[in-house]
Amino acid sequence: MKKFYITTAIDYANGSPHLGHAYEKVLTDVVARFRRLRGDTVRFLTGLDEHGQKVHKAALALGVEPIAICDGFARDFQSLCKVLNISNDDYIRTTEERHKRVVGQLQQHLFDKGEIYQGEYRGYYSVKEEQFLTEKEMVDGKWPAHYGEVNEIIEHNYFFRLSKYQDWLIDHIQSNEDFIFPRFRARQVLEFLKEPINDLCISRPKDRLPWGIPLPFDENYVTYVWFDALINYVTGAGYGTDDFAQNWPADFHVIGKDILLPAHSVYWPIMLKACGMALPKSLLVHGFWLNSGQKLSKSTGNVINPLDLIEQFGADAFRYFLIREMNVGQDSDFSYEQFLTRYNDDLGNDLGNLLSRLLNMGGRYADSKVPAVALEEEPEKTLNSLWVATSEQVIGLFEEFQFHKGLDVTFAFIRGINRYAETRAPWKLAKSAAPDDLAKLNTSLAYMAEGLRLATTLLSPVLPEVSAKILALLGEPEVSRYAGNLEWSERLQGNRLGEKIILFPRPQKEV
Ligand code: MSP
Repeated sequence: MKKFYITTAIDYANGSPHLGHAYEKVLTDVVARFRRLRGDTVRFLTGLDEHGQKVHKAALALGVEPIAICDGFARDFQSLCKVLNISNDDYIRTTEERHKRVVGQLQQHLFDKGEIYQGEYRGYYSVKEEQFLTEKEMVDGKWPAHYGEVNEIIEHNYFFRLSKYQDWLIDHIQSNEDFIFPRFRARQVLEFLKEPINDLCISRPKDRLPWGIPLPFDENYVTYVWFDALINYVTGAGYGTDDFAQNWPADFHVIGKDILLPAHSVYWPIMLKACGMALPKSLLVHGFWLNSGQKLSKSTGNVINPLDLIEQFGADAFRYFLIREMNVGQDSDFSYEQFLTRYNDDLGNDLGNLLSRLLNMGGRYADSKVPAVALEEEPEKTLNSLWVATSEQVIGLFEEFQFHKGLDVTFAFIRGINRYAETRAPWKLAKSAAPDDLAKLNTSLAYMAEGLRLATTLLSPVLPEVSAKILALLGEPEVSRYAGNLEWSERLQGNRLGEKIILFPRPQKEV
């Protein structure tokens, strides 16, 4: 059976993880967890992009082997995944043998088919910066001083025939509406493709850049880093093994807007087409967190690193904020004040208080057991129909990656449960001796518990740890699927409720 295969971009091994990297992983993880709950078998891949000039230069500067630098970053990025509770099935590093083998095989195949040819690369080269420049880099007709001496040089290199596939690619994008999400990004790509594209230089002479995967047909060259990195998606799908057919094509490559053009929307589809392989079904292109690489200012004038918030507030609160604030595809600003507002208002007041109220009253009035529903009147019917509308809408929104709206609607339902509790006021009912009031009291606790179970089930792709905790406190095992678990039911009846806890404690001190 075909798996739902989803990938993130692989991070460069030339800098520490930041908010942008964290976001992409969380977003992909939310999609992966959502699909698992929907019943798909998921394969989720993320990893590290280790070759190229920058890593080589950094190694030279530090006097160490490039792999030592990569090993360090691999540890940092993998521990970020762990801290954020990312449910990836595999982690690929482009220096692994399995990857080098696949890159070599595909290049040889393309070379044998005549899709790769040798040619001359002519350009301006800065020896100091070890990079080719274009005239665009000139300021007032001169090369800026930091480039040092710039010479025009000719280098023999290998080229991949991109241009002959240009019309095919335009047609593919036009006839596959879902190939690039959001749609406005597809229009940008089509705009780019109005100009003729050049063939792609896919080699670097080894004497200039030794840190790369050697070309299988010419040992004097290594592979251009994008031609190596993109292939991680098929290596990670098990290319050359029996697993490949159940993974490939990818359902989604999740990437940031900066690497859509030309790498993912031009090079990658053409590379696959030239190899005779199926294209990914969709590129899911997210926007940028502004300020992500920098420290954030707080109104107090202090600065913080957003990733430090995970330690103080927990991974789920951090995940919630990222997914609640970002409209997938757009950019967003990360603000510490906004983070605290979401933490205190949505998580603390709406969700956390509902749980502690329920556990508290369950302990006092119902012997810490979920009572049976004893009567259903207007308030129950209202809450019930609010749930029906909520669940249908939220699933639809999640399916379209409108997670921020889906969370908004879910929290409106949670506030609906709190309103229901206010209306029924179990603490007043508990003081009454009327038999009807006992029925109302029991019903209200049962309804609060069931509402909370349902909301929590819906939230679990975003708040996996908190959801598991809440469900356990309601006496339920962790949810594995949405199907059969999202209908209003009386399944909690008789379950033992846990001790009252504060899920989202107020921050004690300034971060
Ligand atoms: N190594 C390449 C990707 C190769 S994929 C075959 C790369 N690496 S990166 O480390 O620079 O970026 C990794 C991902 O993080 C990219 O999808 C990028 O768009 C994303 N982000 C980097 N900064 C970001 C923000 N400020 N905000 C959101 N995502 C951002 O590109």
